Amino acid sequence: MDVKDLNKRIKTLEEQLIQALEEVESQHDLQQVKSRYLGKKAEISQLMRHMKDIPDDDKPAFGKAVNEGKQRFTELIEAKREEIRKAEVERKLRAERIDLTLDAPDFTPGSVHILNQIVEEIEDLFIGMGYRVKEGPEIETDEYNFEKLNIPKDHPARDMQDTLYIDDEHLLRTHTSPVQVRTMLEYGGEKPVKIICPGKVYRRDDDDATHSHQFYQIEGLVVDETTTMSDLKGTLLKVARAMFGEDREIRLRPSYFPFTEPSVEVDVTCANCDGAGCSVCKHSGYIEILGAGMVNNAVLKSSGYDPKRYQGFAFGLGIERIAMLRYGIEDIRHFYVNDLRFNRQFR
Ligand code: DAH
Repeated sequence: MDVKDLNKRIKTLEEQLIQALEEVESQHDLQQVKSRYLGKKAEISQLMRHMKDIPDDDKPAFGKAVNEGKQRFTELIEAKREEIRKAEVERKLRAERIDLTLDAPDFTPGSVHILNQIVEEIEDLFIGMGYRVKEGPEIETDEYNFEKLNIPKDHPARDMQDTLYIDDEHLLRTHTSPVQVRTMLEYGGEKPVKIICPGKVYRRDDDDATHSHQFYQIEGLVVDETTTMSDLKGTLLKVARAMFGEDREIRLRPSYFPFTEPSVEVDVTCANCDGAGCSVCKHSGYIEILGAGMVNNAVLKSSGYDPKRYQGFAFGLGIERIAMLRYGIEDIRHFYVNDLRFNRQFR
């Protein structure tokens, strides 16, 4: 073999290598091609063995040709390696691409429950009149829920509110009125009080269209040195109009609550017939919406306020009742079964 044959042979090998590289698809394939064309047993590596048969003058050219061949082979293989690497990155990127134009699966945004909407509405109304929102615990003591509200043990008024007792002293509050007591005690008998107290209350009732063992109330309490019954009436008129429309009127009927004296029940003119009388208001022209009164001196005293200096008014209303009247809902259980067909009407 002379240098010319050698060059021819290397050229042939190079063409074969190029062809082999065309088939290569992975780094693994490439490694095999590399060892076939550049490894110890590869033909180009073996060619050096012919050196001894080459005339001395040609030896440098022979060696150079082999080395340059190896160099080109290496370059071809490395170029292929880079090509495969890039293709792999490309493939990965394509596989992991997120199509932002694809439609998202349908999901329905939630909305505020109608009871909470009404609570928020009433809160806004009172905050606008300078009231603070106060909350109290749902597990109450007999003392705050009853005793300090002028309902001693064995008092017949306890029968007005069937109670879920936890033990002799603890119960699930039957109304939001204990927050009155808690707040007055917190204020220490000196500062004026102007609060509303929204929250859940509980009664030992069998659920039916008009009873629920758990429902929502909002309590209102104002205690100051000049608070009068006409302040109460003006405030309740505002509530009635905010809830049922600006044309509404109210009337106060004498009633009885142990924690107020005098006590009243408040009726609003029927929004359905404008007071003329219809089936909604049972032909009376009025609908009862809440209980209220002037804070009983006994309650002021038990909560640390001096009745000689302070008077107060209080009221309590049921949120479900307001919602039922406002939207003509006939069954209180609708509020609690989470039927979306019901809930979505108030979005
Ligand atoms: N606590 C009463 C109830 O749940 C409602 C009530 C009536 C609250 C008159 C008051 C009030 O503050 O003055 O039946």
